[in-house]
Amino acid sequence: MSRYLVTGCAGFIGSTLAESLLDDGAEVVGVDAFTDYYERRRKEAQVEAVRKHPAFRLVEHDLGAGALPDSLLEGVDGVFHLAARPGVRASWGAAFPAYLNDNLAATHAVVEASAARGVPMVFASSSSIYGDALAYPTSEDTRPAPISPYGVTKLASEHLIAAYSRDFGLKCTALRYFTVYGPRQRPDMAFQRIVEALAAGGRFEVYGDGTQSRDFTYVADAVAATIAAMDAGPSGRTYNVGGGSEATMRDVLALVEELSGRSLEVRYGERVAGDVRRTLADASSIRDELEWEPRFDLRSGLAAQLEAVGALAS
Ligand code: NAD
Ligand code: UGA
Repeated sequence: MSRYLVTGCAGFIGSTLAESLLDDGAEVVGVDAFTDYYERRRKEAQVEAVRKHPAFRLVEHDLGAGALPDSLLEGVDGVFHLAARPGVRASWGAAFPAYLNDNLAATHAVVEASAARGVPMVFASSSSIYGDALAYPTSEDTRPAPISPYGVTKLASEHLIAAYSRDFGLKCTALRYFTVYGPRQRPDMAFQRIVEALAAGGRFEVYGDGTQSRDFTYVADAVAATIAAMDAGPSGRTYNVGGGSEATMRDVLALVEELSGRSLEVRYGERVAGDVRRTLADASSIRDELEWEPRFDLRSGLAAQLEAVGALAS
């Protein structure tokens, strides 16, 4: 039986990954600091199902606090490093030290320990490292140029991993996820705000004129790519993980109204600093090398997210 460490296991993607690994028969040690980026009660609810599983153990620990406790990597065959302070638009100003702790210092502790013990890693990087990308669809060799402090910490983490891989034998695959959505999505993200406003009543504010677009990726697809990267043996490669569902916010709002049969009160406000105009992944490397392809289109993925909050039309 394989045993994995999942950092950020109480988060949106981490809790979904932990569930999938346990379903596949693995043992999972989960670590999370329940940081204040969003409410602890949501994270507790996300990790509740796996907490009951006999092959799961939760350790509450701040990875940015220094060297990793030895017990965390005992008998571990691989580390999925997803813990981070996410959120592109919130990373300016006084929040930045928390980004340094949760993204850079935490990654440093994880790579030190993984390299020292020869444990392979998969790292959750981000499309935000491309900024307003120089080419579309964006391939992994496009020059990175993040336009948010968050994106800078993710790019720096990739470079830290590359440095440890070169001189300390670290084996790591980095995955650049493109805007992940689905049930349990973080409450600061667009789709979750939309479905919760539809379910409970309320208004959704679009940042800008709604013509910005994203290559939206369904969470089960992101998790499948993450497990495929570990199964293939982390190799020093970096892959884009994009859902192949590019849509503007205006497209999304129209689809959500159609699927829910409800109309949403929408207000158009200002663009927010750090927000890129467009993302579109060239995901041919992961398709060719790991045989991963997205299986969920935007319609089916959004329907699942609406259903999770009870707002899908019957
Ligand atoms: P999330 O906030 O739901 O999950 C992250 C988890 O990490 C949280 O539960 C948090 O408490 C934990 N954490 C943060 N700092 C920690 C620390 N210092 N020590 C221990 N635990 C800590 O976010 P998510 O959306 O699930 O994102 C997971 C990963 O994927 C992150 O690395 C994020 O940057 C990356 N990512 C997410 C998206 C997306 O669209 N959601 C896209 C690209 C990359
Ligand atoms: C998402 C995640 O939040 C980041 O953690 C991640 O690193 C990034 O994807 C990535 O792909 O790397 P983002 O694309 O901004 O970032 O995802 P959303 O928060 O869902 O926003 C999507 C679009 O909706 C953005 O243009 C945003 O400005 C807009 N939006 C968001 C609104 O108009 N209103 C809102 O209330 C929230």
